[in-house]
Amino acid sequence: MKKIIFSLFFCATFSLSAQTTDAEINQIVDQLSLEEKVYLVIGTGMDIPGMTEESNAPQAVVGTTKDKVAGAAGTSYTNKNFGFPAVVFADGPAGIRISPVREEFPDETFYATAFPTATSLSSTWNVDLAQEIGSAFGREGKEYGVDFLLAPALNIHRHPLGGRNFEYYSEDPVLAGKITAAFVNGVQAEGIGATIKHFVANNSETNRTELNTVVSERALREIYLKGFKIAVEESNPWAIMSSYNKINGTYASENEELLNNLLREEWGYEGFVMTDWFAGKDPVAQMRAGNDLLMPGTNQQATAIMTAVNNGELPEEILDRNVSNILKQYYKTPSFKDYKPTGKPDLEGNKKIARKAASEGMVLLKNIDKTLPLDQNAKVALFGVTSVETISGGTGSGDVNKAYMVSVTEGFENAGFELDQDLLSKYDAYVKEERAKIPPKEMFFEKDILVPEQTWTTGELETIAENNDVAVFTFGRTSGEFQDRVVEGDFELSEEELQVIRNISNAFRSKNKKFVVLLNIGGVIETQSWKGAADAILLSWQPGQEAGNAIADVVSGKVNPSGKLPVTFPVSINDVASGKNFPGTVLDTTAPKSQNPLAGVPSEEIYEEGIYVGYRYFDSFDVETSFTFGFGLSYTDFEYSDLKVNRDGNEIKLELSVTNSGETAGKEVVQLYVNSPQGSLEKPEKELKAFAKTKNLKSGETEKITLRTDIEDLAYYDPGTNSWKLNAGNYRFIIAGDAQTPKLEEELFLEEKEVKTTQDLFNPEIAIEELTRN
Ligand code: BGC
Repeated sequence: MKKIIFSLFFCATFSLSAQTTDAEINQIVDQLSLEEKVYLVIGTGMDIPGMTEESNAPQAVVGTTKDKVAGAAGTSYTNKNFGFPAVVFADGPAGIRISPVREEFPDETFYATAFPTATSLSSTWNVDLAQEIGSAFGREGKEYGVDFLLAPALNIHRHPLGGRNFEYYSEDPVLAGKITAAFVNGVQAEGIGATIKHFVANNSETNRTELNTVVSERALREIYLKGFKIAVEESNPWAIMSSYNKINGTYASENEELLNNLLREEWGYEGFVMTDWFAGKDPVAQMRAGNDLLMPGTNQQATAIMTAVNNGELPEEILDRNVSNILKQYYKTPSFKDYKPTGKPDLEGNKKIARKAASEGMVLLKNIDKTLPLDQNAKVALFGVTSVETISGGTGSGDVNKAYMVSVTEGFENAGFELDQDLLSKYDAYVKEERAKIPPKEMFFEKDILVPEQTWTTGELETIAENNDVAVFTFGRTSGEFQDRVVEGDFELSEEELQVIRNISNAFRSKNKKFVVLLNIGGVIETQSWKGAADAILLSWQPGQEAGNAIADVVSGKVNPSGKLPVTFPVSINDVASGKNFPGTVLDTTAPKSQNPLAGVPSEEIYEEGIYVGYRYFDSFDVETSFTFGFGLSYTDFEYSDLKVNRDGNEIKLELSVTNSGETAGKEVVQLYVNSPQGSLEKPEKELKAFAKTKNLKSGETEKITLRTDIEDLAYYDPGTNSWKLNAGNYRFIIAGDAQTPKLEEELFLEEKEVKTTQDLFNPEIAIEELTRN
């Protein structure tokens, strides 16, 4: 009787859900039956060709509305007694991934904005812009009926060949964490939840569901967890997605140390944790570990949890705890607030934000004699198959069903450049012919196949160089979920591609004409061997649906480039420290392979480079790079002056001035690196601790910049004592234009200090021989 009255009460007061308190939610949990609870901790499943199963959920209690938003990655069960609506989860980091069509609205479309990919966004080093982009995602998701965005993703770019690096921000956790926090704040301010993923140490795709990541506690805490900690502290994401891999022997989703001891107890996280799709093996262990929600949800999981509670193996209080974690966030969602999505987000407005962010995320890597911006009257010979088939983003769950794509060719035309029409029509015909030879993808997760580069004879190039003022060559790469990239023909350029670059360069340079290379790539490639052949190189990354327009904005000088590299471009792939064991070793090479193309085989990836990831390695071991972390040119120059460093308790405040000393208006990224005194545990040469971006400074204009860091940020982790510590000595605060270009420096003496003690977690089951400078 009590239950019925309560249920009626709740159904009737549904729209007051925003005011629902935690205590009320706990009361609701007390009223739920075991079945109702179980169908709150699993999703309604996913239709995968060949894997579809009918739900065995009791229809009287819960219901499914699997197709509430067509093409969304996941949905929760409805609850009939309590009137809980279905909650919708949709990817991803580059835009809302849903189906553009819905059966119930045959005359309407639901295309989403393809924003620049994550690496492009972090290249802006602009947290305000990241927040603006997050808000645009939030508004678009909300109007399309999405409650939880399955983004942002902030795994560390541990190795250039990581197949999903385009979905991730940086090799540095501070940059990744700050951009994530800003993005999440933007999303959640619009009333939908963000899901930060993939927690944690999911830095390669090969065998990802069977991979054991073996990593020291220090590297985990200082590198792989740090960005997540920043995001939890600064943006309180409603949800976190645990990763596919194991961490030191235990699946992330079954890892109590990770999800309870660290995330909840140490960091005070208040949201809920969901699995990655079909991740982990043991639903009962997942429940125990604090992995509240199993996605997309299977019948077997429901049965296993129900049985475990009934036979006493899983205390019902654990289920209650998880349900309560979930409901506390569900109550904030548009669906629970009975919001009626319009299906009509402001796509025009979001298009403008996408274009602005795309151009701000571009990094000018080279610009001899002011090759760029191009003269508006220049006759441009536009080369490269990617000028025609320009790449918006990568494949897999990070893909977006967008309404259109602006190619480089179209962008240049829109900007009013005079293009060599004969050359264009040859490219068009060639791309059409070659594309027809490539079979269409059978499964959504397959990588896009690019048309091979078109080659030209010396004679043809001579004529083209004769008829035009400048050559622009767009070069593309793509990658995606489920597989890592390869060296040959991917990280490295193929022989044909190198030939094309050399030949165009020779033809134009011999006539005193310039050669520009545009990089439309998702991750790092080899640049050392060919960069000398170009007069200018603009790295556009994969900049979303407005690619061509945004590239033309920078090339024409409408936008002064202000992006800086969030990753290092090494001279050779062999120079990367993590290369020694990326992407892991198969443990039993004779083990049978599953029929399921998505299944992996047991393997292990030992992070022997420890804390020496990205520039921390190149810098500390004096290894030359092709383009260093934090690097990026501008059409103007900046001067740095008047650095003051002050300590106030635990906070260290740095003030300085940045002046635009050139002739063009522009923005500058101010980077703070700290060199810490060595102690019993070695430290990297320097580490990024804070950054800021100036406003668009006019020629001669000065801006005062304030950067803040604190004692805890400067500490290193000592696994011997399970604590964050400071060594006594002089700390060098380096204000820099990039990791190799110091501008101003100040030293501050800090005393030895134990900043914080922690629990003893994540002990690797095998000894790791970590890289050392000694
Ligand atoms: C990916 C997640 C994604 C999920 C749902 C998984 O394969 O790893 O990032 O959110 O699918 O599409």
